[in-house]
Amino acid sequence: MPIPTPAISADPSPFDLDDDTAYRAWRQRKLSLSHPPAAVEIDDLANLHDDERRSLLRECAQRNVALFRVRRVAADIEQTLQAFGCAMGLLGIDQNLCAEDSGVTAITVKATATDHVYIPYTSRPLGWHTDGYYNAGTQQIRAWLLYCEQPAAEGGANELLDHEIAYIRVRDENPEWIRALMADDAFTIPSNTEGGEQIRPDHAGPVFSIAPFDGALHMRYSARQRNVIWKDDRTTRDAAAFLLDLFRRGDDHIFRYRLAAGEGLISNNILHRRDGFRDAPEQGRKRLIYRARYFQRLPRPEE
Ligand SMILES: [Fe+2]
Repeated sequence: MPIPTPAISADPSPFDLDDDTAYRAWRQRKLSLSHPPAAVEIDDLANLHDDERRSLLRECAQRNVALFRVRRVAADIEQTLQAFGCAMGLLGIDQNLCAEDSGVTAITVKATATDHVYIPYTSRPLGWHTDGYYNAGTQQIRAWLLYCEQPAAEGGANELLDHEIAYIRVRDENPEWIRALMADDAFTIPSNTEGGEQIRPDHAGPVFSIAPFDGALHMRYSARQRNVIWKDDRTTRDAAAFLLDLFRRGDDHIFRYRLAAGEGLISNNILHRRDGFRDAPEQGRKRLIYRARYFQRLPRPEE
C-alpha cells in the first residue's frame, strides 16, 4: 500500500527566515505530533519487512526518530545491525576513532588504552549533544541507530529532543538567534591532542545548517562548556545560553526512554543525552548498547 509522504517537508522551505508563512504551517504540524512515539515491532532485524521499514521511515520523517522493538534476537548482532542500516537506506557507515571493524560500536564501560577518558565508555551521564559535533563539515553525522543488548542494573535512560523542535523554540524566541547559529563560525571545537599528537584539528561550523542536497535541517551541538568555543558576540552567546536553558527548563517534546534488551532507536541525529548508570556484571547486568552512525539522513518514505 503506498504510504503518503508526510507533509512536514514543505516547499518553500520552512527554514527560510524570510518566509514566515511556510514556517508557521510547518511549525504547527511539528508541534501537533502526538507524543511520545510508539515502538515499531520488528519481527527479525536481519530480514526487515517492507511494512516495518515504512513504519520506521514514516516515524523518522515526522519526528526524526523511531523507537523499535525486536521480537527475534539475532546471533551476530553487529552484522545484523549493519544489514538493518542498509535495509533502511543508510550507507556510508562512520568509522570513528573507537569503532570496531564493522563500523558498529559497542557502547559499554571499558578500560581505555589511552590517557583520554571517553565519557560514552564510562557509566557517567552524558550531556545534551548531537553525534559527531566535533567532526569536520564534510563528515557530519546525519543519522544514527542504537540497539540495546543489555540495560544497566540501574539507570542509563536517554532523553531525546527532535532538533527541529529546538529550532522552533529558538526561532520563536528570536529569529536573529537562528541567523547567528547558522554562521560558519558559530561554534568551534578545538583540536584534540593525544600523547602529544594532534588527532583532530579545530573545527568551526554552524549549529543549524540546511543540507543543500535535500533541504533538511541539520544540527551540530554540545551542551559541554569545556571543549566548545562559541563565537564571541552578544547574539551568539545569548542564543547559546537560551539553548542551554531550554535543556535545564525541559520541554514537553523531550522524550525520556530507557531502552530494554531488544529495543533500539533510529534517528536523523536528533539531540540526546544519557543518565548515569550502575552495572552489576556479577548478575549479568552490564549495560551494552550498539551504535552505528551514518553520513546521510534516512530516506523519506516512498510515495
Ligand atoms: Fe550520542
